Amino acid sequence: MNSTRTKDKLEITIMKKIIVAIDGYSSCGKSTIAKALAQYAGYTYVDTGAMYRAVALYGLRHGIITDKSIDEKALQDQLDNIHISFRFVDGAQHVCLNGEDVETQIRTLEVGNGASRVSTIGFVRRFLVAQQQLMGKEKGIVMDGRDIGTVVFPEAELKLFLTASPQIRAQRRYNELAAKGEQPDFAAVLADVEDRDYRDTHRAESPLRQADDAIVVDNSDMTREQQMKYITAIFDGHNR
Ligand code: DC
Repeated sequence: MNSTRTKDKLEITIMKKIIVAIDGYSSCGKSTIAKALAQYAGYTYVDTGAMYRAVALYGLRHGIITDKSIDEKALQDQLDNIHISFRFVDGAQHVCLNGEDVETQIRTLEVGNGASRVSTIGFVRRFLVAQQQLMGKEKGIVMDGRDIGTVVFPEAELKLFLTASPQIRAQRRYNELAAKGEQPDFAAVLADVEDRDYRDTHRAESPLRQADDAIVVDNSDMTREQQMKYITAIFDGHNR
């Protein structure tokens, strides 16, 4: 609710809460923009990629996922033992697996790779989608992922589809790795971006695709500030 007091009247605007679904390719800056938009709107932010990563971490820790294979039967049998929740630490969202804060552990290459593999399994997707839908019941949520506008919330009031050219995304990832002190090979980073795009868009279960009613935001040539300005204007337009 926003209230504005002028000299002789008090204007009260009730802002209806909506669901914002943000999908797009990897390394598009989805989570950065989703977090910033959630903060702007006073909404809850949910990083669904973190949920797939938490399932992968569980599988890796229990020997269900190895370099070579996934024991799908064991994973399905264990699903009820996988409890994912979120908590806030200094304003930042951390994912918890069975009550343990695993925010750092899920951000490794090994877990990212495991997440990419478990995300192709139908029963894993159904397990997580059901939880994501519950989180959006009260609306007032910004959720990012690959299937939010198409599968999780096909009725979301605002859908954004973020994209940028593979070269730009590879350059961003290259810069991040270099900033961490690594010495990446640009061609390998670009090949990895293209491989992930292919996997995300070609899997049988809920492949990444733009919802018909999504607004496409190509941020190849936008600074973070320009993008934020653009997206908050779209959001405000929806809430007028
Ligand atoms: O966004 P991320 O890199 O943290 O996602 C990890 C993996 O999970 C990635 O391979 C894509 C997949 N994913 C998905 O299939 N559906 C989602 N809603 C979110 C992520």
